[in-house]
Amino acid sequence: MTSPATSSSLDPLAVLRGLASLRRLAGSYPAGHPMIAQKLKELDEVITGLLRGGSPIRIDVIRGDVFLDGVTSASEGQANQQLLAQLSALGIDSIHIHEGVQRDEMLAVAEFLWQYAESSDSMSTQLAARNVKHISLGRLLPLDTRWRMQKWADAPTGPLDPDYAESLMMAQKTWEDTASGKPLDVVTVRDLVQLLIYKVARSNAALGQILAVKQYENLTYCHSVNVAMLSLLLGKQVGLDEPTLAALVEAALLHDVGKTQIPLDIVRKPGALDKSERRMIEAHTTLGAEILIQTEGLHPLTPTVALEHHRGVKGTGYPDLGEAIPHPMSQIVSVADIYEAITGARTYQAPTPPEKACLIMARMAGEKLNTGLVKKFVNTITFFPVGSLVRTNRNELGLVVETNRREPLHPVLALVDEETYTPAGRVDTSERESSGGYARHITQSMPAPDGLDLNVFLEPARAA
Ligand SMILES: [Fe+2]
Ligand SMILES: [Fe+2]
Repeated sequence: MTSPATSSSLDPLAVLRGLASLRRLAGSYPAGHPMIAQKLKELDEVITGLLRGGSPIRIDVIRGDVFLDGVTSASEGQANQQLLAQLSALGIDSIHIHEGVQRDEMLAVAEFLWQYAESSDSMSTQLAARNVKHISLGRLLPLDTRWRMQKWADAPTGPLDPDYAESLMMAQKTWEDTASGKPLDVVTVRDLVQLLIYKVARSNAALGQILAVKQYENLTYCHSVNVAMLSLLLGKQVGLDEPTLAALVEAALLHDVGKTQIPLDIVRKPGALDKSERRMIEAHTTLGAEILIQTEGLHPLTPTVALEHHRGVKGTGYPDLGEAIPHPMSQIVSVADIYEAITGARTYQAPTPPEKACLIMARMAGEKLNTGLVKKFVNTITFFPVGSLVRTNRNELGLVVETNRREPLHPVLALVDEETYTPAGRVDTSERESSGGYARHITQSMPAPDGLDLNVFLEPARAA
């Protein structure tokens, strides 16, 4: 198509930047204007360079970071943050570009982005009408963006498993004491670890409340308890012994304790952070490690996990510790941390359902997350974990009450009466008809509506 791209332009951000500029230009100048032609030429060069690898370009924007074919882009900077904020305001999650793409299509996509907000047609209809065949835009949000305005609760609002509720209360007290400058209460932390291991982990209701989407913005103590529980699940899967599991749960509970030292309005600021805010957020790792080192009576690995939980298995991430690979315990907490963050709400982001969270994590495997751990984690919780609300191809509403290891897409459901939200029987979606096909498929998962009490469907904590 054109001259080769320079290596510096082999950057997914350059594609996004090019599309954003074209979008702006297309809104201001007539087609064929020299400025548009020049911008198209530049974008064409970048895309040609990226396509030279032989496979389609896949750019994902996940939680403000740009990934090219699942690998994070090292590019940083305030200008990029603004660009990402703009793109995210348009609702772009992913862009796929295929071999053979023409400049007309690039321009059509840019124009489409300009006009999209004003149209009521679906995205695919509009792209098809513009003859765009080699570029697809993933999950442009529907026009209804009311959720962006949504204020999420700070903690779960529905009825909770009693032991889980108690553990949240204990974590909240510890968190708030530490935030107010008191020393970390190691005795409460130890009690909390025991409560999680011996009570909460044995309650299917609690697990459901932790594994399914969480419609609250849990940035602090709820997040910590949930990450501790998810780490415990994964730790058991990799065969850790009891003392190591206890150390893991303690470390996971305290992995974000450094956030107690950062103003909450920065921790929960919607949208892009500027450089100094970003630095402040990133400092929660080192601040946390400092607090934990100074606290007597903790496991020696607890500060290590706080320090390393945002570092990738290839030595990327923050803080900069050279090429050091995070401790296996930190790697477990990273997996749990990311799943928990993705399946929870943020001021600017609705919670992501588990099956999509698993796919996002699969893309991070190998670079950011340990591939073996991601596999074990996804195999354990499955796409539709216990507590997920799903719809079947028979239009039944069901709550996952049991997962099936051999057939992870076909769990056992408690059917839900849609008027009363009470149990309406139980079906095993792995059952087959005489023809050999499944009697039921899950067609989608959905957030639980107000009024649906998981405790009614799932077993609460059993006595230890
Ligand atoms: Fe963190
Ligand atoms: Fe975290």
